This record gives sequence, C-alpha cells and structure tokens, in this order.
Amino acid sequence: MRIDVLSAIPEIMESPLNESIVKRAQDKKLVKIYVHDLKDYATGKYRQIDDKPFGGGAGMVLKPEPFFRCIEKLISERNYDEIIYLTPQGTKYTQKSANRLSLAKNLMILCGHYKGIDQRVIDKFVTREISIGDYVITGGELAAAVVIDSIVRLIPGVLGNSESALTDSFQTESVFDAPVYTRPADYKGLKVPEVLLSGNHAEIAKWRTDIGKRKYINRNRRNKKL
Ligand code: ADE
Repeated sequence: MRIDVLSAIPEIMESPLNESIVKRAQDKKLVKIYVHDLKDYATGKYRQIDDKPFGGGAGMVLKPEPFFRCIEKLISERNYDEIIYLTPQGTKYTQKSANRLSLAKNLMILCGHYKGIDQRVIDKFVTREISIGDYVITGGELAAAVVIDSIVRLIPGVLGNSESALTDSFQTESVFDAPVYTRPADYKGLKVPEVLLSGNHAEIAKWRTDIGKRKYINRNRRNKKL
C-alpha cells in the first residue's frame, strides 16, 4: 500500500509515523508513506499557503494552488482508491472504515488547518470526508496519524501475530477486548483472575468473551448518559 499525506505542518506526524508498528510496516516495505509539505508547492517570495477567507470571518483558509499542484502531480503518476479530507464535518471513522481502507492500494489524505481548505480543492478531488470524532483538533495531522495507524496494523504481515488484529475490540460485533494481566500473579495482594491461571483454554475464551460483552454494554450505557 502507498499513502500520500498533504500537510501544512508535516512535522506533527513525524513521531507517530516513524515509531512502533507503523515504522515496522514501512521497514518491511508493506506500506510506503509519503508526507508532502504544502510549502514546497507554494510559490512567491513568502511561499504563502494560507489567506483570509472571502466574505470575512475569523481564521485563515489553506489556499487552493499548493493543493492543486501537489494533487495533480500525484494523480498523474497513479490512480488513488480514495482521496480523503480529514474534517470534523466528515463521516465518523470506525473500525469498519479502517477495514475497508486497509484493502486499498493507493490512498491520499489531505490535512486541513486553521479554518479549513478552500472548498474548490474538496469539490474537485475529494472522494471521502472523514472525522475521527465529534470534537475539533487543531489540524488534520493528528487525525491522519490515527487513521493511518488503524489501517496499517490491518495490512497482512504487519502484526507479528496475525490473530491480534482480528481479536481487537470492535472487530467482533458488540465485544470489547477483555482485561489483560501479566506476571506477577499476585502483586501487593492484587490477584489475577483465577480462570487465567487455570490452563483451561475453553474456559478462558468464554471468560474473555463474557467480560468483553459486559464491557461493551456498560460503555454504551455510559455513552447514553453523556
Ligand atoms: N480536523 C479537526 N478536527 C478533526 C476531527 N475531529 N476529525 C478529523 N479531522 C479533524
């Protein structure tokens, strides 16, 4: 898979994309991630990438030209399955979305900043608008890191134990991950549940599913109260 990210502040993504599982996936050549700095596609003495909104109002808007230049170059080189714009107004991102996107060959992700991106960029190129939740963060970069991480861990061969992603919370309808414990079995009198020490794999599996279901139900109850 190849992922191209267009950003006004690419530095924000450096650590999330270059550590842990996403780094390992790149090292194994299972994914190639290219972060494009919009400033490299700006022209003029000041390489301006944003400007005041027409019609007035607070905040700055990312200008169309750097996006058009970068996107037109990329789409002339290959076909993209999706060109995604990260915005709080997008469709809410879920595990299902991650599963679907993990099957793509080429993805492009546009990060907004300030007040957003000039609408002409969105109208011309974007195939999907995604929100990582009903809250506003400063720019699309952290959202892009979240989306990329969730996709990359699903690419076959990325996780050492291919079971891991299948048993993630949300992969099974209505079941969360069960709590996990490691040694020592008794820490300051705080004991690991007996069943996990029993060696009875059928019972352990049942305990995990039961507790995962209960966690899911309780979380939804709490969500409703909010
Ligand atoms: N940019 C700002 N807030 C966002 C959100 N909630 N999801 C995606 N992109 C964003």
